[in-house]
Amino acid sequence: MTEARPKHEKSVFIRTYGCQMNVYDSERMVGLLKPLGYGPAETPETADLVILNTCHIREKAAEKVYSELGRLKKIKTAKSERGEEMSIAVAGCVAQAEGAEIIARAPQVDIVVGPQAFHRLPELLARAARGRGDILETDFAVEEKFDRLAARVADGPTAFLTIQEGCDKFCTFCVVPYTRGAEVSRPVDAIVAEARLLAAQGVREVTLLGQNVNAWRSTAPAGCGNDAQWGLGELCRHLALIGGIDRIRFTTSHPRDMDEGLIDALGEEEKLMPYLHLPVQSGADNVLKAMNRGHTAEHYVRLIERIRAVRPDIAISGDFIVGFPGETNKDFEATLALVEEIGYASAYSFKYSRRPGTPGAAMPKQVPEAEKDERLTRLQALLDTQRRGFNEAQIGKKMPVLLEKTGRHEDQLIGRSPYLQSVHVSAPKSMLGLIASVSIIGVTPNALAGALTKEGEAAA
Ligand code: 5AD
Ligand code: SF4
Repeated sequence: MTEARPKHEKSVFIRTYGCQMNVYDSERMVGLLKPLGYGPAETPETADLVILNTCHIREKAAEKVYSELGRLKKIKTAKSERGEEMSIAVAGCVAQAEGAEIIARAPQVDIVVGPQAFHRLPELLARAARGRGDILETDFAVEEKFDRLAARVADGPTAFLTIQEGCDKFCTFCVVPYTRGAEVSRPVDAIVAEARLLAAQGVREVTLLGQNVNAWRSTAPAGCGNDAQWGLGELCRHLALIGGIDRIRFTTSHPRDMDEGLIDALGEEEKLMPYLHLPVQSGADNVLKAMNRGHTAEHYVRLIERIRAVRPDIAISGDFIVGFPGETNKDFEATLALVEEIGYASAYSFKYSRRPGTPGAAMPKQVPEAEKDERLTRLQALLDTQRRGFNEAQIGKKMPVLLEKTGRHEDQLIGRSPYLQSVHVSAPKSMLGLIASVSIIGVTPNALAGALTKEGEAAA
């Protein structure tokens, strides 16, 4: 049966920058705007509304937004000369951090809406249409936001699910506690309801999101332990009971919140995938202290040892910053030594970027740019060697791959290994959304090459 599609009266184009949290928020904005008659636009030129969902974590991210706003201004002017209208909204963390500055620097913007206020988009659009001038909405009301969001519409067999927002850690380099606000956990029932809704739409894998996802805490649901406090480990075990959900991931974790309950769950719950993104940022204790990370390098190494003891095949991923104020060559060598000791399957590494308003920006001994460049090149070379080594070590192994989307070639599907590697497999389209048994036969720079095993072919 083919369903008659409602004709969209208007269209929205959303450009998303930054982390998975923003990807999730953008999906929710699409859901919010649908009842108002907005369908998707392929390009900003064809859209009635353009939303930039922004990221403020590093300097370049904000600058990209301003240059995109410059391009949009031209489109908006050209449209208005033809008698057509286009509204521009800036959402996300740049909106939160620089609301008034955006309006001053980019008068073509109609609405500025922070990450905790985007559920108010419908009313903000109505206000903008009434010609009330620039609208700036950057309140924090996380619970209200989740209550008012429209039902989830899944798009494929994997989905993000936000369970926690904000951060109380105040690392001295980071803007997140200022742009996303304090740590807030969503209650279990709301999370379970959203996960069930996703499962009913064919989602097989959920990635639980939070700035500090493993700081998630909530009261157990009625009948599950008399008001006991649950952590992420208990939540994952509970979500694993939902029929249809076969894989659970979570990101991003903080070493200080990696509790026993979660480590035990990683060891025992097979639906929890063997991949852990656990940023350490630096391998030097004095730098970790100046960053206000609240742990030492030794603590991190022991933590990974404990996790590997219960889940020996776990792939470890991390984030690193080079050139934090005061970082010496010796400190940087300590980071390289930690990377050698841990062995990363994948990692993200950045040059320290001075963020106005954070304590790090005012610290003495800022590291010269050229030095940061050199350190980043060395660190990335090492991480890249480790990543390739990890990928090559999969050759000859058989593993379950969730087939997510079609590839560039005929009869090619792209899926994910348990370790979050992209896997290219020759398989018919009818297998999309299945978890297939795949033999790894090769590696390319960014993916694994796989072939369906005999069992995998039988499922085709
Ligand atoms: N400069 C460079 N990298 C940063 N990150 C966060 N803030 C900064 C900054 N000011 C990196 C950290 C964090 C990741 C999401 O972004 O490594 O874990
Ligand atoms: Fe930023 Fe640190 Fe919070 Fe992570 S833990 S979001 S790096 S302040």
